[in-house]
Amino acid sequence: MMRDVSNPQSALCHCMLSDLAGLFAVKDTINQKIDGQSKVGARDCVKLSPALRVALLVTILAAICSSRVHAADDRYDAWLRYAPLTNAEGAKYDSLPASVAVLGESPVLDTAQSELIRGVQAMLRRTLHPGKALPDGNAIVLGTLATLHSVAPDLDVPNALREDGFSLTASRFHGHDCFVIAGSSERGVLYGVFTLLRKIALGEELQHLREIQEPSASVRWVNEWDNLDGRIERGYGGPSIFFAEGNVRADLSRAGEYGRLLASVGIDGCVVSNVNANPRMLAADFLPQLARIADVFRPWGVRLAISVDFSSPKALAELDTFDPIDPRVAEWWKQRADQLYKLIPDFGGFLVKADSEGRPGPSSYGRSPADAANVIAHALKPHGGILFYRAFVYNHHLDWRDLKNDRAKAAYDIFHPLDGKFDDNIIIQIKNGPIDFQVREPASPLFGGLQNTNQAIELQITQEYMGQQRHLCYLVPMWKETLDFDFRADGRPTRVKDVVAGKSFHRALGGFAGVANVGMNAYWLRSPMAMANLYGFGRLAWDPDLSAAAIVDEWTRQTFGNDPLAVKTIDAMQLSSWQSYENYTGSLGIGTLTDILGAHYGPGVASSENNGWGQWHRADHDAVGMERSIATGTGYVGQYPPEVQKLYETVPATPDQLLLFFHHVPYTHVLHDGQTVIQHIYDSHYKGVEEVREYLRQWQSLRGHMDDARYSFVLTQLQYQLGHAIVWRDAVCNFFLRTSGIPDAKGRVGHYPNRVEAESMRLQGYVPLDVDPPENASGGKAVECPPTHTCTASFTFDKAAGSYDLDVQYFDQNNGMASFRLLVGDRVIDAWIADDDLPNAKIGGDTSTRRHISAVSLKPGDEIRLEGTPEGGELAAFDYVEISRPPE
Ligand code: GCU
Repeated sequence: MMRDVSNPQSALCHCMLSDLAGLFAVKDTINQKIDGQSKVGARDCVKLSPALRVALLVTILAAICSSRVHAADDRYDAWLRYAPLTNAEGAKYDSLPASVAVLGESPVLDTAQSELIRGVQAMLRRTLHPGKALPDGNAIVLGTLATLHSVAPDLDVPNALREDGFSLTASRFHGHDCFVIAGSSERGVLYGVFTLLRKIALGEELQHLREIQEPSASVRWVNEWDNLDGRIERGYGGPSIFFAEGNVRADLSRAGEYGRLLASVGIDGCVVSNVNANPRMLAADFLPQLARIADVFRPWGVRLAISVDFSSPKALAELDTFDPIDPRVAEWWKQRADQLYKLIPDFGGFLVKADSEGRPGPSSYGRSPADAANVIAHALKPHGGILFYRAFVYNHHLDWRDLKNDRAKAAYDIFHPLDGKFDDNIIIQIKNGPIDFQVREPASPLFGGLQNTNQAIELQITQEYMGQQRHLCYLVPMWKETLDFDFRADGRPTRVKDVVAGKSFHRALGGFAGVANVGMNAYWLRSPMAMANLYGFGRLAWDPDLSAAAIVDEWTRQTFGNDPLAVKTIDAMQLSSWQSYENYTGSLGIGTLTDILGAHYGPGVASSENNGWGQWHRADHDAVGMERSIATGTGYVGQYPPEVQKLYETVPATPDQLLLFFHHVPYTHVLHDGQTVIQHIYDSHYKGVEEVREYLRQWQSLRGHMDDARYSFVLTQLQYQLGHAIVWRDAVCNFFLRTSGIPDAKGRVGHYPNRVEAESMRLQGYVPLDVDPPENASGGKAVECPPTHTCTASFTFDKAAGSYDLDVQYFDQNNGMASFRLLVGDRVIDAWIADDDLPNAKIGGDTSTRRHISAVSLKPGDEIRLEGTPEGGELAAFDYVEISRPPE
């Protein structure tokens, strides 16, 4: 009987375990990806040769099965693990009252009480007694300010707090020791509970606590780019937790769990559907399904919101127009909003992407974004709903030959003239930078250009351009650079964080939107380390004055525990990881240099040129960078207030890290740090790789300092990241060597003495191919094996006898599962299956992957042979074998 196994690893593991017991192993040709799902049957385990069995067992069993063995440890709790404290750690909470009274009745208040009981139980192994009335003894008291003031006027709580704010106070009440969590709203009470639990997890003293916390901004939402079919645009953590096959999922338990995570960091709204919206979201028969998501969010104080297609009235064939000034269109939006609020009274509102990247918008009728936003906002207004209208509007068919054209100018050009024309329940949602979530961009000039309009900053938590959660990249330091940036509007301090909080220009509404894109994956975002970004987003939205270091430290301790070595190591890795990623991808403000026409993942330096998308870096033989000055460039700099213009207008004034964003300079231009531009490009890329190598070493020091599952998962990720960082380094450096003709002063670029290129080996069956673009493979070439063969490539080792590390650079396409064996003479040194799901079916920079084999004994004359067996569309292609002395 065939046994379908959704996880190919588990099937392999099953067969390998069978092999141990009954000398069976998985037949590599049977692993098949069918409709993106791997299926392996029990009968697919066939007898293999002893040599292959041994090799497979040693190399694959440990690596693959370990993740399954620990699968039971996989948790959805992320930073809410509530790991038990040691007796010594817990002792400081001995005086915490033994009961918890919640004053008032509501789903959110009930959640606050039960979460407190859950957290205390898990961390302190004490069961708090729940109550509903003012205590007649020591107690933790939960309630809103209004309730507490009315039922216990002599209780020591503030008179008023900003919406969702709370106070935590240890005090005496009628002769009893009380700990009071008072919220300005029910949500505030819940946030207070999570804060108290965080303090316990972090080992903070509570005894004399008197603390007030208020959120910086009124709106703190996440956006999910989920499609109704269950796929997530730019999502890397598995399928949607909300939708499947065109409908809302039957089982929404993960959505409820997500609400809990969001509430724990103060996030109060979630847009559950893709900005590239499906009109069906607003179909009358679909609305009841949405109500089910609202139901699972409600106990966590998270408001449901959706992205809507601006052409919905017409797209749903209910009107023949979507012209925003047509009264029938206004009536349509009104009726749809009324219907929605009838079903979901606490519905948050809509998010609109219009006239952008092919989306329909008001320009179809010659109307403005303000016309479009206002018609929808009117419909939401009576219900207290908010409309987020995205400023990510630009022409993606720009003429790249015109040096005055500049996509970065689009948002300001379009929205600044409309300042003051948007209704007061509209928020203009502005990406942090003027292009599109690149590894480094200046703050969008629009933050300074909308003084009479509500604004929110859009930050991207999902690492679309930042390694897609396969690369470690903690984004809080980057976000803070934007949030702390001072526009000096009218010569006054005007930091972005104050602008979006509504403080700078006295706006009642404003805040934060984070594109999270979590999925069904056990770690939500694919990697446990990436969750620091979701956590950090929430914490920054609550309090943008928190430092990146303080945030990551909180996150690490809650996620991995208080082990000092683990905390110190993980904090340090996270804090430097964005800089490292920038070093080996695109430094000096040039952009991420990824393949912008593909998955936005691996290198693709030239892909941004000669097309209308406008992510240009204008690298030519002599110079590189976009000239955006007022004097000689596109004029973009002129969109900033005068004091900021001075920072960027001239080459000498511009900081090195943004130089190529603002200026087109010769490769020989000398930076403030004394290096030429070209040498900086080479050096930073080599530095970035060495930094990742160091992360790997640091992580290895943590074996035994956490559970095996997460240790092994992150270890494997870092090994992969190191290999891919090398791919990035070589691609970018070789592109610039070829383009500029200026060699690396340190002689590294283009010289790889330890590599044996695949195309130069003795090939049997393998055929050379040109990789496109050439710099994405060593020497521009790789070899591939035609389907249905096993191919071999061999060479003779000619260095001194000794122990060496071998790295095989191969291509793990996502359309099959090829297998490899590496042999020295007749000895099988390693065997593996290329079963990763990287974002491309092509042989190139997205799929280039490194297999590291440590400490292999070699002597001159040894034949080293790689055998590759294609499977499906995957051709067992590889690029080179690198042989190096192991590190001391
Ligand atoms: C990026 C991303 C798209 C997304 C767009 C947006 O360009 O690649 O997938 O739709 O941003 O923010 O609207």
